[in-house]
Amino acid sequence: MGPPGAGKGTQAKVLAKQLSLAHISTGDLLRQNVADGSELGKKAKEYMDAGALVPDELVTEMLISRFSRSDIAKGFILDGYPRTINQAQSLDEVLKSKNMPIDLVVDLNTSERMIVQRLSGRLVCRKCAANFHKTNMPPKKPMICDNCNGELYQRPDDNEATIMNRLAVYRKDSAPLIKYYADKGKLQSVPADGAANDVLNIVVGVVKKYNDSHKV
Ligand code: AP5
Repeated sequence: MGPPGAGKGTQAKVLAKQLSLAHISTGDLLRQNVADGSELGKKAKEYMDAGALVPDELVTEMLISRFSRSDIAKGFILDGYPRTINQAQSLDEVLKSKNMPIDLVVDLNTSERMIVQRLSGRLVCRKCAANFHKTNMPPKKPMICDNCNGELYQRPDDNEATIMNRLAVYRKDSAPLIKYYADKGKLQSVPADGAANDVLNIVVGVVKKYNDSHKV
């Protein structure tokens, strides 16, 4: 977890590959629904464009449906969910029924200055949802994805006014999850203002420490 632009997607994608886990991003799933013009996408679009949270019941239903795919059997990294205490409680219930408790919650601790710099320069692949950045992580060819040659675009919610609203929503609705998971002894907060590889090394270290102490 972490505020918008903390690097959740960037870190989760690499980590999921390294650990052979499924990567489940509710933001990516919602954007796919919007692109497909599904009923959920039509309902979600207005909230997303405004930088508001999509209602809990819609996102939780979408997540439960994603859990029916077999690739979660070995475990998964959740990115962007839960975002409210209500979602966290729903997640606890769903995972209890699957006997798959949460191992670790990694909170990417990021300053506001860094968030605005990262989001205002972000580029995303329309085809595979890979992330780039105009200056921090530029693609090899302008506006073309290095991984799949898909077209890169700027997310409509990556403008300054919407970024500020997303940050306000994060502080009000999502930041309380830090205490929720700290109280359960699941939380690891890591500094995330540094370069992506440096942050990755810290996160990998946190996961390794967890695995070593749980003999995975
Ligand atoms: P979502 O897509 O989850 O957006 P977000 O939480 O605002 O997070 P971001 O994707 O903007 O940032 P990130 O932390 O993944 O950063 P990234 O790695 O891309 O959600 C979008 C919307 O969907 C929400 O506003 C809401 O409406 C809805 N939604 C989603 N989930 C929901 C839920 N559970 N409940 C209700 N509504 C929900 O990095 C950002 C940029 O910085 C990239 O360009 C990257 O290349 C660059 N970068 C990353 N790390 C570094 C680094 N260390 N150094 C330099 N550059 C970096």
